[in-house]
Amino acid sequence: MSSTLVTGIGELVTCAGDPADPLGVIHDAALVEEGGEVAWVGPASQAPAADERVDVEGRAVLPGFVDSHSHLVFAGDRAAEFAARMAGEPYDGGGIGVSVAATRAASDDELRSLLAARLTEMRAQGTTTVEVKSGYGLTVEDEARALRIARELTDEVTFLGAHVVPSEYAGGPGSCGDRAAYVSLVTGPMLEACAPHARWVDVFCEPHSAHAFTQEEARAVLTAGRDAGLLLRVHGNQLGHGPGVQLAVELGAASVDHCTYLSDADVDALAGAADTTVATLLPGVEFSTRSPYPDAAKLLAAGVSVALATDCNPGTCYSSSMPFVIALAVREMGLTPGQAVHAATAGSAKSLRREDIGRLAVGSRADLCVLDAPSHLHLSYRAGVPIARSLRLGERGATSPDSGP
Ligand code: NIG
Ligand code: FE
Repeated sequence: MSSTLVTGIGELVTCAGDPADPLGVIHDAALVEEGGEVAWVGPASQAPAADERVDVEGRAVLPGFVDSHSHLVFAGDRAAEFAARMAGEPYDGGGIGVSVAATRAASDDELRSLLAARLTEMRAQGTTTVEVKSGYGLTVEDEARALRIARELTDEVTFLGAHVVPSEYAGGPGSCGDRAAYVSLVTGPMLEACAPHARWVDVFCEPHSAHAFTQEEARAVLTAGRDAGLLLRVHGNQLGHGPGVQLAVELGAASVDHCTYLSDADVDALAGAADTTVATLLPGVEFSTRSPYPDAAKLLAAGVSVALATDCNPGTCYSSSMPFVIALAVREMGLTPGQAVHAATAGSAKSLRREDIGRLAVGSRADLCVLDAPSHLHLSYRAGVPIARSLRLGERGATSPDSGP
Protein backbone atom coordinates (compact mmCIF):
# COMPACT_ATOMS: atom_id res chain seq x y z
CA MET A 1 0.00 0.00 0.00
CA SER A 2 1.42 3.37 -1.01
CA SER A 3 1.89 6.18 1.52
CA THR A 4 2.16 9.98 1.21
CA LEU A 5 3.97 12.41 3.48
CA VAL A 6 2.43 15.89 3.64
CA THR A 7 5.10 18.20 4.94
CA GLY A 8 5.72 21.94 5.22
CA ILE A 9 2.52 22.39 7.25
CA GLY A 10 2.90 25.73 9.02
CA GLU A 11 -0.09 25.04 11.26
CA LEU A 12 -1.90 21.71 11.50
CA VAL A 13 -5.35 21.92 13.10
CA THR A 14 -6.14 18.35 14.17
CA CYS A 15 -9.41 18.89 16.11
CA ALA A 16 -8.10 15.91 18.07
CA GLY A 17 -6.90 17.72 21.18
CA ASP A 18 -8.24 17.20 24.69
CA PRO A 19 -11.28 19.14 25.97
CA ALA A 20 -9.00 21.92 27.19
CA ASP A 21 -7.53 22.30 23.69
CA PRO A 22 -10.20 21.18 21.18
CA LEU A 23 -8.34 22.53 18.12
CA GLY A 24 -5.19 20.51 18.89
CA VAL A 25 -2.88 22.71 16.82
CA ILE A 26 0.61 21.46 15.90
CA HIS A 27 3.03 24.00 14.38
CA ASP A 28 5.65 23.03 11.76
CA ALA A 29 3.88 19.74 11.33
CA ALA A 30 3.71 16.78 8.97
CA LEU A 31 1.11 14.09 8.30
CA VAL A 32 1.40 10.67 6.71
CA GLU A 33 -1.46 9.10 4.77
CA GLU A 34 -1.71 5.44 3.97
CA GLY A 35 -4.69 3.74 2.32
CA GLY A 36 -6.79 6.91 2.56
CA GLU A 37 -6.30 7.16 6.32
CA VAL A 38 -4.06 9.24 8.54
CA ALA A 39 -1.18 6.99 9.61
CA TRP A 40 0.92 9.53 11.51
CA VAL A 41 0.78 13.20 12.63
CA GLY A 42 3.44 15.15 14.48
CA PRO A 43 6.28 17.62 14.23
CA ALA A 44 7.84 17.72 10.75
CA SER A 45 11.26 17.11 12.29
CA GLN A 46 10.12 13.64 13.42
CA ALA A 47 8.21 12.60 10.31
CA PRO A 48 8.78 9.06 9.02
CA ALA A 49 9.60 8.34 5.37
CA ALA A 50 6.81 7.66 2.86
CA ASP A 51 6.52 6.67 -0.81
CA GLU A 52 5.37 10.09 -1.98
CA ARG A 53 5.80 13.59 -0.65
CA VAL A 54 3.63 16.74 -0.90
CA ASP A 55 5.13 20.00 0.38
CA VAL A 56 2.44 22.57 1.27
CA GLU A 57 5.07 25.27 1.80
CA GLY A 58 4.02 26.72 5.15
CA ARG A 59 0.27 26.65 4.60
CA ALA A 60 -2.27 25.83 7.29
CA VAL A 61 -3.95 22.42 7.04
CA LEU A 62 -7.29 21.61 8.70
CA PRO A 63 -9.65 18.64 8.61
CA GLY A 64 -11.80 18.97 5.48
CA PHE A 65 -15.03 20.77 6.27
CA VAL A 66 -18.04 18.59 7.00
CA ASP A 67 -21.16 20.20 5.54
CA SER A 68 -23.80 18.31 7.49
CA HIS A 69 -26.89 20.05 6.07
CA SER A 70 -27.63 20.70 2.42
CA HIS A 71 -30.46 20.38 -0.10
CA LEU A 72 -28.55 20.00 -3.36
CA VAL A 73 -30.94 17.96 -5.53
CA PHE A 74 -33.00 20.68 -7.15
CA ALA A 75 -33.51 22.41 -10.48
CA GLY A 76 -34.01 26.11 -11.15
CA ASP A 77 -33.37 28.91 -8.68
CA ARG A 78 -35.34 31.47 -6.67
CA ALA A 79 -33.26 34.60 -7.10
CA ALA A 80 -36.39 36.74 -7.42
CA GLU A 81 -37.64 35.44 -4.07
CA PHE A 82 -34.29 36.41 -2.52
CA ALA A 83 -34.53 39.90 -3.99
CA ALA A 84 -38.08 40.27 -2.63
CA ARG A 85 -36.85 39.23 0.82
CA MET A 86 -34.09 41.78 0.74
CA ALA A 87 -36.85 44.31 0.01
CA GLY A 88 -38.75 43.22 3.14
CA GLU A 89 -40.79 40.10 2.24
CA PRO A 90 -40.67 37.45 5.00
CA TYR A 91 -39.69 33.82 4.37
CA ASP A 92 -42.42 31.27 5.13
CA GLY A 93 -41.40 28.18 3.15
CA GLY A 94 -44.00 28.78 0.44
CA GLY A 95 -41.33 29.17 -2.25
CA ILE A 96 -40.32 25.52 -1.78
CA GLY A 97 -43.25 24.70 -4.11
CA VAL A 98 -41.51 26.59 -6.93
CA SER A 99 -38.43 24.38 -6.57
CA VAL A 100 -40.61 21.27 -6.33
CA ALA A 101 -42.21 22.07 -9.69
CA ALA A 102 -38.83 22.71 -11.36
CA THR A 103 -37.29 19.58 -9.85
CA ARG A 104 -40.15 17.29 -10.84
CA ALA A 105 -39.81 18.58 -14.41
CA ALA A 106 -36.05 17.87 -14.61
CA SER A 107 -34.59 14.65 -15.99
CA ASP A 108 -32.42 12.30 -13.93
CA ASP A 109 -29.36 13.39 -15.88
CA GLU A 110 -30.09 17.06 -15.31
CA LEU A 111 -30.43 16.52 -11.55
CA ARG A 112 -27.31 14.35 -11.47
CA SER A 113 -25.18 16.94 -13.22
CA LEU A 114 -26.58 19.83 -11.12
CA LEU A 115 -25.75 17.88 -7.95
CA ALA A 116 -22.27 16.97 -9.21
CA ALA A 117 -21.51 20.61 -10.07
CA ARG A 118 -22.63 21.77 -6.62
CA LEU A 119 -20.47 19.15 -4.91
CA THR A 120 -17.50 20.24 -7.04
CA GLU A 121 -18.13 23.83 -5.98
CA MET A 122 -18.07 22.74 -2.33
CA ARG A 123 -14.87 20.73 -2.70
CA ALA A 124 -13.16 23.72 -4.26
CA GLN A 125 -13.83 25.57 -0.98
CA GLY A 126 -12.44 22.95 1.41
CA THR A 127 -15.45 20.70 2.03
CA THR A 128 -14.79 16.95 1.92
CA THR A 129 -18.04 15.46 3.30
CA VAL A 130 -21.54 16.62 2.36
CA GLU A 131 -24.93 15.53 3.67
CA VAL A 132 -27.61 15.81 0.97
CA LYS A 133 -31.37 15.83 1.56
CA SER A 134 -34.28 15.10 -0.73
CA GLY A 135 -37.36 17.29 -0.32
CA TYR A 136 -38.04 18.85 -3.74
CA GLY A 137 -39.83 15.81 -5.14
CA LEU A 138 -42.62 15.14 -2.64
CA THR A 139 -44.05 12.18 -4.55
CA VAL A 140 -42.98 8.58 -3.92
CA GLU A 141 -41.14 8.41 -7.26
CA ASP A 142 -39.56 11.88 -7.12
CA GLU A 143 -38.30 11.50 -3.55
CA ALA A 144 -36.84 8.06 -4.22
CA ARG A 145 -35.20 9.37 -7.40
CA ALA A 146 -33.56 12.29 -5.56
CA LEU A 147 -32.17 9.95 -2.91
CA ARG A 148 -30.92 7.43 -5.47
CA ILE A 149 -29.06 10.17 -7.31
CA ALA A 150 -27.67 11.67 -4.10
CA ARG A 151 -26.48 8.23 -2.96
CA GLU A 152 -24.38 7.92 -6.11
CA LEU A 153 -22.28 10.87 -4.93
CA THR A 154 -22.34 10.91 -1.12
CA ASP A 155 -22.75 8.51 1.81
CA GLU A 156 -24.80 10.94 3.90
CA VAL A 157 -28.26 10.92 2.39
CA THR A 158 -31.40 12.19 4.15
CA PHE A 159 -35.05 11.50 3.35
CA LEU A 160 -36.98 14.79 3.65
CA GLY A 161 -40.37 13.89 2.20
CA ALA A 162 -41.74 15.96 5.09
CA HIS A 163 -40.24 19.19 3.76
CA VAL A 164 -43.60 20.87 3.10
CA VAL A 165 -47.12 19.65 2.35
CA PRO A 166 -47.18 19.78 -1.48
CA SER A 167 -49.85 21.82 -3.20
CA GLU A 168 -51.86 18.78 -4.31
CA TYR A 169 -52.52 18.02 -0.61
CA ALA A 170 -52.39 21.49 0.91
CA GLY A 171 -55.70 23.02 -0.11
CA GLY A 172 -56.70 25.38 -2.90
CA PRO A 173 -57.81 24.57 -6.46
CA GLY A 174 -57.14 21.00 -7.61
CA SER A 175 -56.04 19.91 -4.15
CA CYS A 176 -57.57 17.29 -1.88
CA GLY A 177 -56.85 19.62 1.05
CA ASP A 178 -55.87 16.69 3.21
CA ARG A 179 -52.61 17.22 5.11
CA ALA A 180 -53.16 14.02 7.08
CA ALA A 181 -53.20 12.06 3.82
CA TYR A 182 -49.80 13.50 2.92
CA VAL A 183 -48.34 12.58 6.32
CA SER A 184 -49.71 9.04 5.79
CA LEU A 185 -48.03 8.93 2.38
CA VAL A 186 -44.71 10.10 3.84
CA THR A 187 -44.82 7.64 6.73
CA GLY A 188 -46.09 4.78 4.53
CA PRO A 189 -45.32 4.15 0.85
CA MET A 190 -42.87 7.05 0.46
CA LEU A 191 -40.80 5.96 3.44
CA GLU A 192 -40.81 2.38 2.20
CA ALA A 193 -39.50 3.45 -1.22
CA CYS A 194 -36.96 5.90 0.20
CA ALA A 195 -35.51 4.19 3.28
CA PRO A 196 -33.27 1.81 1.28
CA HIS A 197 -31.46 4.82 -0.24
CA ALA A 198 -31.09 6.92 2.92
CA ARG A 199 -29.26 6.92 6.24
CA TRP A 200 -31.32 9.72 7.81
CA VAL A 201 -34.89 11.02 8.05
CA ASP A 202 -35.61 14.72 8.56
CA VAL A 203 -38.72 16.89 8.96
CA PHE A 204 -39.42 20.63 8.75
CA CYS A 205 -41.14 21.03 12.13
CA GLU A 206 -42.34 24.61 12.12
CA PRO A 207 -45.69 25.80 13.44
CA HIS A 208 -44.90 29.30 12.15
CA SER A 209 -45.20 28.08 8.53
CA ALA A 210 -48.53 26.88 7.15
CA HIS A 211 -46.52 24.77 4.68
CA ALA A 212 -44.44 22.87 7.24
CA PHE A 213 -45.30 20.29 9.89
CA THR A 214 -46.69 20.51 13.41
CA GLN A 215 -45.10 18.83 16.43
CA GLU A 216 -47.42 15.80 16.20
CA GLU A 217 -47.00 15.45 12.43
CA ALA A 218 -43.22 15.70 12.88
CA ARG A 219 -43.30 13.09 15.64
CA ALA A 220 -45.18 10.71 13.32
CA VAL A 221 -42.62 11.21 10.54
CA LEU A 222 -39.62 10.76 12.83
CA THR A 223 -40.92 7.69 14.65
CA ALA A 224 -41.89 6.02 11.37
CA GLY A 225 -38.43 6.79 9.99
CA ARG A 226 -36.80 5.39 13.11
CA ASP A 227 -38.90 2.22 12.83
CA ALA A 228 -37.67 1.88 9.24
CA GLY A 229 -34.07 1.96 10.49
CA LEU A 230 -33.23 5.59 9.76
CA LEU A 231 -31.43 7.96 12.12
CA LEU A 232 -33.09 11.26 12.98
CA ARG A 233 -32.45 14.91 12.08
CA VAL A 234 -34.87 17.82 12.56
CA HIS A 235 -35.34 21.28 11.02
CA GLY A 236 -36.47 23.17 14.12
CA ASN A 237 -36.95 26.63 15.62
CA GLN A 238 -36.19 28.39 12.33
CA LEU A 239 -39.02 30.91 12.00
CA GLY A 240 -39.94 31.37 15.65
CA HIS A 241 -40.00 29.66 19.01
CA GLY A 242 -41.44 26.18 18.66
CA PRO A 243 -41.31 22.50 19.56
CA GLY A 244 -38.54 21.33 17.19
CA VAL A 245 -35.66 21.36 19.65
CA GLN A 246 -37.59 19.63 22.43
CA LEU A 247 -38.88 16.98 20.03
CA ALA A 248 -35.40 16.33 18.65
CA VAL A 249 -33.98 15.91 22.14
CA GLU A 250 -36.88 13.72 23.28
CA LEU A 251 -36.47 11.37 20.30
CA GLY A 252 -32.66 11.29 20.47
CA ALA A 253 -32.12 12.95 17.08
CA ALA A 254 -28.48 13.34 16.09
CA SER A 255 -29.05 16.96 15.14
CA VAL A 256 -31.55 19.78 15.33
CA ASP A 257 -30.81 22.36 12.68
CA HIS A 258 -31.38 26.12 12.49
CA CYS A 259 -32.02 26.84 16.23
CA THR A 260 -32.57 30.49 15.29
CA TYR A 261 -35.10 31.05 18.08
CA LEU A 262 -34.21 29.29 21.34
CA SER A 263 -35.78 29.65 24.78
CA ASP A 264 -33.74 29.09 27.94
CA ALA A 265 -35.53 25.73 28.27
CA ASP A 266 -34.37 24.80 24.75
CA VAL A 267 -30.77 25.67 25.63
CA ASP A 268 -31.02 23.61 28.84
CA ALA A 269 -32.47 20.65 26.91
CA LEU A 270 -29.68 20.82 24.31
CA ALA A 271 -27.01 21.08 27.03
CA GLY A 272 -28.46 18.04 28.80
CA ALA A 273 -28.43 16.10 25.52
CA ALA A 274 -24.99 17.25 24.35
CA ASP A 275 -23.72 13.67 23.91
CA THR A 276 -26.64 12.79 21.65
CA THR A 277 -28.12 15.85 19.94
CA VAL A 278 -26.05 18.52 18.22
CA ALA A 279 -27.37 22.05 17.59
CA THR A 280 -26.46 22.69 13.94
CA LEU A 281 -26.36 26.41 13.22
CA LEU A 282 -26.83 27.70 9.68
CA PRO A 283 -25.79 31.36 9.64
CA GLY A 284 -26.06 31.58 5.86
CA VAL A 285 -29.81 31.24 6.38
CA GLU A 286 -29.99 34.14 8.82
CA PHE A 287 -27.92 36.13 6.32
CA SER A 288 -30.16 35.28 3.35
CA THR A 289 -33.47 35.69 5.18
CA ARG A 290 -32.59 38.76 7.26
CA SER A 291 -33.25 36.81 10.45
CA PRO A 292 -31.61 37.33 13.84
CA TYR A 293 -28.48 35.26 14.46
CA PRO A 294 -28.61 32.87 17.43
CA ASP A 295 -25.98 33.35 20.13
CA ALA A 296 -23.60 30.47 19.48
CA ALA A 297 -21.18 31.59 22.19
CA LYS A 298 -23.99 31.27 24.74
CA LEU A 299 -24.74 27.75 23.51
CA LEU A 300 -21.12 26.65 23.86
CA ALA A 301 -20.88 28.24 27.30
CA ALA A 302 -23.97 26.29 28.36
CA GLY A 303 -22.34 23.03 27.23
CA VAL A 304 -24.30 22.50 24.01
CA SER A 305 -22.63 20.59 21.15
CA VAL A 306 -22.55 23.00 18.20
CA ALA A 307 -22.06 22.35 14.48
CA LEU A 308 -21.97 24.68 11.50
CA ALA A 309 -23.24 23.90 7.99
CA THR A 310 -24.34 25.79 4.88
CA ASP A 311 -27.93 24.52 4.37
CA CYS A 312 -27.16 25.18 0.68
CA ASN A 313 -30.58 25.31 -1.01
CA PRO A 314 -32.37 27.51 -3.57
CA GLY A 315 -34.54 29.28 -0.97
CA THR A 316 -32.99 30.26 2.33
CA CYS A 317 -29.27 30.12 1.50
CA TYR A 318 -27.86 29.51 -1.96
CA SER A 319 -24.27 29.50 -0.72
CA SER A 320 -22.10 26.39 -0.77
CA SER A 321 -19.29 28.05 1.18
CA MET A 322 -18.21 26.75 4.58
CA PRO A 323 -15.60 29.56 4.84
CA PHE A 324 -18.48 32.06 4.46
CA VAL A 325 -20.40 30.22 7.20
CA ILE A 326 -17.34 30.29 9.47
CA ALA A 327 -16.86 34.01 8.90
CA LEU A 328 -20.54 34.70 9.71
CA ALA A 329 -20.40 32.56 12.85
CA VAL A 330 -17.42 34.57 14.07
CA ARG A 331 -18.75 37.99 13.11
CA GLU A 332 -22.42 37.50 13.95
CA MET A 333 -22.74 34.59 16.38
CA GLY A 334 -19.93 35.31 18.82
CA LEU A 335 -17.69 32.30 18.13
CA THR A 336 -13.93 32.62 18.17
CA PRO A 337 -12.29 31.68 14.86
CA GLY A 338 -11.09 28.44 16.47
CA GLN A 339 -14.53 27.56 17.84
CA ALA A 340 -16.04 28.14 14.41
CA VAL A 341 -13.48 25.89 12.72
CA HIS A 342 -14.12 23.18 15.32
CA ALA A 343 -17.90 23.45 14.80
CA ALA A 344 -17.47 23.19 11.00
CA THR A 345 -15.34 20.04 11.27
CA ALA A 346 -15.50 17.96 14.47
CA GLY A 347 -18.87 19.46 15.45
CA SER A 348 -20.50 18.65 12.11
CA ALA A 349 -18.93 15.19 12.11
CA LYS A 350 -20.53 14.56 15.51
CA SER A 351 -23.90 15.66 14.10
CA LEU A 352 -23.47 12.90 11.50
CA ARG A 353 -22.38 10.42 14.21
CA ARG A 354 -19.04 10.06 12.45
CA GLU A 355 -15.66 9.71 14.16
CA ASP A 356 -13.61 9.09 11.02
CA ILE A 357 -14.01 12.63 9.64
CA GLY A 358 -13.78 16.17 11.03
CA ARG A 359 -10.45 15.44 12.72
CA LEU A 360 -6.93 14.50 11.73
CA ALA A 361 -5.67 11.72 13.99
CA VAL A 362 -4.30 8.24 13.36
CA GLY A 363 -7.10 6.18 11.80
CA SER A 364 -9.24 9.07 10.61
CA ARG A 365 -9.81 9.71 6.91
CA ALA A 366 -7.07 11.72 5.24
CA ASP A 367 -9.51 14.44 4.16
CA LEU A 368 -7.70 17.76 4.32
CA CYS A 369 -8.53 21.41 3.84
CA VAL A 370 -5.47 23.38 2.76
CA LEU A 371 -5.44 27.17 3.21
CA ASP A 372 -3.50 29.64 1.13
CA ALA A 373 -2.67 31.22 4.48
CA PRO A 374 -0.51 30.41 7.49
CA SER A 375 -3.30 30.01 10.06
CA HIS A 376 -6.97 29.03 10.49
CA LEU A 377 -7.56 32.60 11.72
CA HIS A 378 -7.45 33.72 8.10
CA LEU A 379 -10.70 31.91 7.29
CA SER A 380 -12.72 34.60 9.06
CA TYR A 381 -10.06 37.34 8.88
CA ARG A 382 -9.95 37.14 5.05
CA ALA A 383 -13.71 36.70 4.63
CA GLY A 384 -14.80 36.30 1.03
CA VAL A 385 -11.31 35.49 -0.26
CA PRO A 386 -11.05 31.96 -1.76
CA ILE A 387 -8.17 30.67 0.38
CA ALA A 388 -9.55 27.17 1.17
CA ARG A 389 -9.43 24.06 -1.02
CA SER A 390 -9.80 20.38 -0.30
CA LEU A 391 -7.20 17.65 -0.62
CA ARG A 392 -8.36 14.06 -0.21
CA LEU A 393 -5.38 11.80 -0.01
CA GLY A 394 -5.24 8.18 -0.93
CA GLU A 395 -8.50 7.69 -2.78
CA ARG A 396 -7.90 6.51 -6.31
CA GLY A 397 -4.25 7.48 -5.72
CA ALA A 398 -5.26 11.13 -5.59
CA THR A 399 -2.85 13.66 -4.19
CA SER A 400 -4.12 16.67 -6.05
CA PRO A 401 -6.47 19.34 -4.72
CA ASP A 402 -10.19 18.97 -5.28
CA SER A 403 -10.28 15.19 -5.49
CA GLY A 404 -13.26 13.52 -3.74
CA PRO A 405 -15.65 13.73 -1.90
O1 NIG B 1 -33.46 24.53 5.64
N1 NIG B 1 -36.69 25.24 6.12
C1 NIG B 1 -36.83 24.36 5.33
N2 NIG B 1 -35.99 24.00 4.35
C2 NIG B 1 -34.91 24.79 3.85
C3 NIG B 1 -35.35 25.81 2.88
C4 NIG B 1 -35.79 25.22 1.60
C5 NIG B 1 -36.25 26.21 0.58
O2 NIG B 1 -36.72 27.32 0.90
O3 NIG B 1 -36.16 25.82 -0.59
C6 NIG B 1 -34.09 25.34 4.99
O4 NIG B 1 -34.08 26.55 5.24
FE1 FE C 1 -32.48 22.85 5.45
